[in-house]
Amino acid sequence: MSKDSNIIPLPAYFERYRELFSKLDREHIPCHAAIIMDGNGRWARQRGLVRYRGHEHAMKSVRESVRASAELGLKALSLFAFSTENWKRPKEEVAFLLRLFDRTLANELDELCGNNVRFMCSGDRQKLPDWLNKTIDRAGEMLAKNTGLILNLAVNYGGKQDILQAVNKLLKGGARSAQREITETEFEKALFTGNLPPVDLMIRTSGEQRISNFFLWQAAYAELIFLDVLWPDFRRQHLLEAVIEYQNRDRRFGAI
Ligand code: FPP
Repeated sequence: MSKDSNIIPLPAYFERYRELFSKLDREHIPCHAAIIMDGNGRWARQRGLVRYRGHEHAMKSVRESVRASAELGLKALSLFAFSTENWKRPKEEVAFLLRLFDRTLANELDELCGNNVRFMCSGDRQKLPDWLNKTIDRAGEMLAKNTGLILNLAVNYGGKQDILQAVNKLLKGGARSAQREITETEFEKALFTGNLPPVDLMIRTSGEQRISNFFLWQAAYAELIFLDVLWPDFRRQHLLEAVIEYQNRDRRFGAI
């Protein structure tokens, strides 16, 4: 028996991941990727399950996308978890989602810490329940000393609302009485995303091709990639595939 027959073959997805990794240009990794996680409901429906099961299964995809982003050396990963429009869903589903965010965040803290991940939340937090705000604050504090990937969870986030709140913040801060023009840098700092770099790569799963009021300002020059995979099926290899496609695009920022 040859020595090689003792080697247990790696699962196919692992081989695919390794193959994709070797195709990466390590010098041109996007700084900031943002994901519109879509398709949980359809994933559940295809299996004859209730929508909630789709949301639950989505947690593995969240974990995989965070791990892959850290492995790739991204500076920031933003996940669109709950939009300002998602309050229109049945109140039971809204309550379920908020509980799920809370539980996931609390359960993942150790792993996030082990992977040197920092944490922040973008969106209007006033409407969120106190228990969720407490968990968000605790995560931010516990991971504050880390130096790696910034995981930014967009909760009760809307792109239009973000721009409006930034304008109002600047007005309240005396911009009107100062009677001078606001600079782009000042404005960007007033957005919920604060000091995060601009979005280089925006991914939406499930085949839908819309931005749905996500980062309107931040994604001004983002490469948009729409994947046919439903979010609960999203794995590390999908992020790699998107990054490779991003690297094959010609980014000119309006120049020639
Ligand atoms: C889209 O699926 C997903 C959402 C509305 C957001 C919920 C996201 C999760 C539960 C995963 C992220 C969790 C954390 C902790 C970051 P959909 O319900 O719109 O699907 P459908 O369009 O197929 O109905």
